[in-house]
Amino acid sequence: MNDPARFIRANTALHEPPLIPEVRLHLASEIVPIWQMTEEELEKSGLPPPFWAFAWAGGQALARYILDNSEIVRGARVLDFGSGSGLIAIAAMKAGAASVLAADIDAFAAAAIALNAETNNVAVVATTEDLVGVENRGWDVILVGDMCYEGPLAARIEAWLRKLAGEGTTVLIGDPGRTYLPKSGLEKLVSYAVKTTRELEDTDVRNTSVWRVLPG
Ligand SMILES: C[S@@+](CC[C@H](N)C(=O)[O-])C[C@H]1O[C@@H](n2cnc3c(N)ncnc32)[C@H](O)[C@@H]1O
Repeated sequence: MNDPARFIRANTALHEPPLIPEVRLHLASEIVPIWQMTEEELEKSGLPPPFWAFAWAGGQALARYILDNSEIVRGARVLDFGSGSGLIAIAAMKAGAASVLAADIDAFAAAAIALNAETNNVAVVATTEDLVGVENRGWDVILVGDMCYEGPLAARIEAWLRKLAGEGTTVLIGDPGRTYLPKSGLEKLVSYAVKTTRELEDTDVRNTSVWRVLPG
């Protein structure tokens, strides 16, 4: 990969996600063209979608909740797991978190997080390490936006998050009712109608909730 930041700047535009007007992100308007361009840039095919180029419904709901209930993250060390564009990480810093680690295994996401954090004048550290299963590294709060879209991934994440919740970490999930959202062991905190696009979600609005993960 030559210069992911250059690629992101060239192929996205700055937009506010509908539910989070206080944050501006480098976003794409359609998924197929930027997916194709990513594959051309990396000279690889069969890549996962460029998730980082969109503010997903689950991430928007969780970012809104954190901004409106800033006491949850104020002064806290936060992990934004599966960060994508970095939306939740940026919202957590704006809400007064002491620090945020934004984790995403996609190297383009790490570059997007850095660009978007800079655009919003907040400091966020990004990592591409796969943290699933690791011991708590000092996180008080773990935020997970829209990660229940794949069965095996969701199962690995659930077991890990439940263990961390059992140790006293606050773990919150934002999710628009994806297939692999756990069916039990969650407490619903709030729901929002999140504007989306038919191209991404096949509907104009997704009812999206924020859940607290209950200890296992
Ligand atoms: C649907 S996107 C959600 C992005 C963002 N949280 C939001 O709501 O807009 C899911 C993200 O999870 C990332 N991801 C998938 N597996 C991961 C893993 N094991 N560790 C960290 N990130 C992962 C993907 O690269 C993708 O950016």
